[in-house]
Amino acid sequence: MATIVGAVTTSHVPSIGGAIARHQEGSDYWKPFFDGFDAIHAWLREAKPDVAVVIYNDHGLNFFLDKMPTFAVGAAGEYRNADEGWGIPVLPPFPGDPALSWHIIETLVAREFDPVTCQEMLVDHAFTLPMKLLYPDVEAWPVKSVPICINTVQHPLPSAARCYRLGQAIGDAIRAWPGDARVLVVGTGGLSHQLDGKRAGHINKDFDLKFMESLTEDPEWATRFTNRELIAEVGTQGIELLMWLAARGTLGPRARRLHSNYHIPISNTAGGTMLLAA
Ligand code: DHB
Ligand code: FE
Repeated sequence: MATIVGAVTTSHVPSIGGAIARHQEGSDYWKPFFDGFDAIHAWLREAKPDVAVVIYNDHGLNFFLDKMPTFAVGAAGEYRNADEGWGIPVLPPFPGDPALSWHIIETLVAREFDPVTCQEMLVDHAFTLPMKLLYPDVEAWPVKSVPICINTVQHPLPSAARCYRLGQAIGDAIRAWPGDARVLVVGTGGLSHQLDGKRAGHINKDFDLKFMESLTEDPEWATRFTNRELIAEVGTQGIELLMWLAARGTLGPRARRLHSNYHIPISNTAGGTMLLAA
C-alpha cells in the first residue's frame, strides 16, 4: 500500500523564482524565507518520497476566466511550465504518474467531487516554485507528480469545509493505492495577502499564526469560516490558504508539526512554510 510520508505547505509568490534566478537566497531580504527550507531538505533526504501530489491554484496559465474548473486533476505523463510573464526562467518538465492520477480521480468521482481531468496541463508558479524550493539542486526531478488544482481565482470558490473534505478523499485514495509509493503531499498558496483593490498590501499575522497552529491543534477550525469571512481576515488572495487545508486533510485526524517558518513579507505576501507528518 502507498504511504503518505508527510505534507509540506508553503507560500508560492513569483518573485521567489526571481530570487533563485539571481542567486539571492542568502540576501537579507530572502534569507529568512529560504532558510525555512533547510529542515525540510534534511527531512526529504530521510523520507525519500517518490511521488508528489501537489495541491495548488492555477493563476491563468492553464485555466483562464472563460473556463474555470472548481477542481482539476492532472493525468498527464509530463507537465510543462511556461512563461507567465514574470521574466523568470521556465523550469524543466515534471514527470507525471498517470496511473496514480487516475486512481485519485476515480476515488474523487466516487466521493462526488467530479474534478476536470487534464491529460494535458501547464503548471504555473504555484506548482513549479514550491518544487524548486523542495529540490533546489537536482538535475532531474526525483519525484513523479500529480497536480491538483483548486479554483481560488474566479468566484464562486469551494468552501474551506469542502476543500478539507477533498483533502480527506485524496488522502484515502493515496492510502488505498496498491503500489508501494512513498507520497509527499504539497499544498501551496497564502498566507495572508491581497494584491488588488483598497486593501492591497493587507496582511494578518495573528490570523495566519492561529491558522498554522490550528492545522495540528484543531484541523477543522478554519472549516468553520465562510470564504467571505476568510477573505476579510486574510485578503482576496490569502484565500489560497485553502490549499493548506486540503493538504492537511490528506493526513487524517492527527498530524504532528515537524517544522514551521513564518516571515513577512515575501513580495506582497506573508510567507509561511510548514512540514507535517501524520
Ligand atoms: C504574489 C503572491 C501570489 O500568491 C501570487 O500568485 C502572485 C504574486 C505576490 O505577493 O506578489
Ligand atoms: Fe498565488
